[in-house]
Amino acid sequence: MKKLLENLPEKLKDLIYQAKALGEENNLPVYLVGGFVRDLFLGVENLDLDIVVEGDGIKFAQDLASKLKAKIIRHKQFGTATLILEPQTKIDIATSRKEYYPEPAHLPVVSPGRLKDDLFRRDFTINAMAIDIGKNFGELIDLFGGKRDLEQKKIRIMHVLSFQDDPTRILRAVRFEKRYNFKIEPLTLRCLKEAVKKKMLEVIQAQRLRDELILILKEKYPLKPIMRLKELTGFKFLHPHLNITKKTYGLLKSIEKEINWFKKNYPQRRTLDSWLIYLMGLLDALSIEDTEIVCKRFVFRRGEEKRILSYKNIKKSFIKELSSNKIKPKKIFCLLEPLSYEVIILLKAKYKNLNLQRNIQDYFEIYNGMKIYISGKDLRKLGVLPGPYYQKIFTKTLEAKLNGKIKTKEQELMFIKKIILKK
Ligand code: CTP
Repeated sequence: MKKLLENLPEKLKDLIYQAKALGEENNLPVYLVGGFVRDLFLGVENLDLDIVVEGDGIKFAQDLASKLKAKIIRHKQFGTATLILEPQTKIDIATSRKEYYPEPAHLPVVSPGRLKDDLFRRDFTINAMAIDIGKNFGELIDLFGGKRDLEQKKIRIMHVLSFQDDPTRILRAVRFEKRYNFKIEPLTLRCLKEAVKKKMLEVIQAQRLRDELILILKEKYPLKPIMRLKELTGFKFLHPHLNITKKTYGLLKSIEKEINWFKKNYPQRRTLDSWLIYLMGLLDALSIEDTEIVCKRFVFRRGEEKRILSYKNIKKSFIKELSSNKIKPKKIFCLLEPLSYEVIILLKAKYKNLNLQRNIQDYFEIYNGMKIYISGKDLRKLGVLPGPYYQKIFTKTLEAKLNGKIKTKEQELMFIKKIILKK
């Protein structure tokens, strides 16, 4: 293991050695755990260090934060803290703990425990290994056959009630299976199906499920886990009326293509919330009312809900107008400018009409964000008195600009002078 640690990028290695030094100063056993250890074995880059301390994890986190001059977020009720180092790098630090679930699908009761307890409470064997970064620096602690399962590409739960204790693990099993091209092993699969049959996904707090679903939709290739989840759950946990059909699959494929198109052609524009486009694609067949129910139940953020519903509320007449080959640039601008990029990409994925495709392309290419240079100050200089007339001038100028009649500030001025003279 030591060798794998030595081969890490300098920045990460330095963080690990700082944690090691702090552990030694305080005589505390400190371990790397969870996804970081898994990815270290797989040779997959992972910038989220996950550390468990046999002792006061919060105090350790505070000391490490001041040593590293990092921002710290404490989660006192769980005895955990997160250190934010850069937008890309963070360290999760926890007191090693025992958990027990007084009721299935509810949050566990947590108490301090040994490292072994902490590893046993985890979701899958491949996520339940630790590396000592204290006295026996670099020693692997693999009590549940995690390394063997990694080598045999298996997702295996730690005990048969795992999915009932925490049904979000159903989504996690699928996510890891498809991300690493592993297989959920037979007993684990049986337990997973049993938990689905018992409707455990309907019992769990919806926000927790939402967060795991978002993680699936944020995967590099979300279609694979989406289809596996359809096979195992039918997605009924999202809404009982939801039916993922061949048509939905076709739409999701098309969304994937359009997201790639956008990223390739407009890398400088704001980053897309791709996951939200996939979600809207999944919910496509639901009625507006049912979609509203999903948004409320899963408590999507306001901005997310707004985008989802703005798509749902698009009328047939809107699509008809956008599919016309005689549409004026001003109209394209008026139709699309109020919508989010996510909704526009989804429209492009869903409607294959060639005019609509071209109009959306033109929008991104030419009209999106178009503004005029002229301001109220310029109009005052031209002797126009402030009032509602200003807005009329601005609109006309923008229209002329969208139609390609004028481009530069000088041309805008000339254009406005003509309007004023005509009045
Ligand atoms: N974990 C768990 N049960 C859950 C969530 C998390 O047992 N429902 C444990 C796993 O050991 C996991 C660790 O907490 O490895 C960290 O969780 P998280 O950061 O969500 O996942 P990672 O394994 O780091 O995976 P990813 O690469 O997707 O971040």
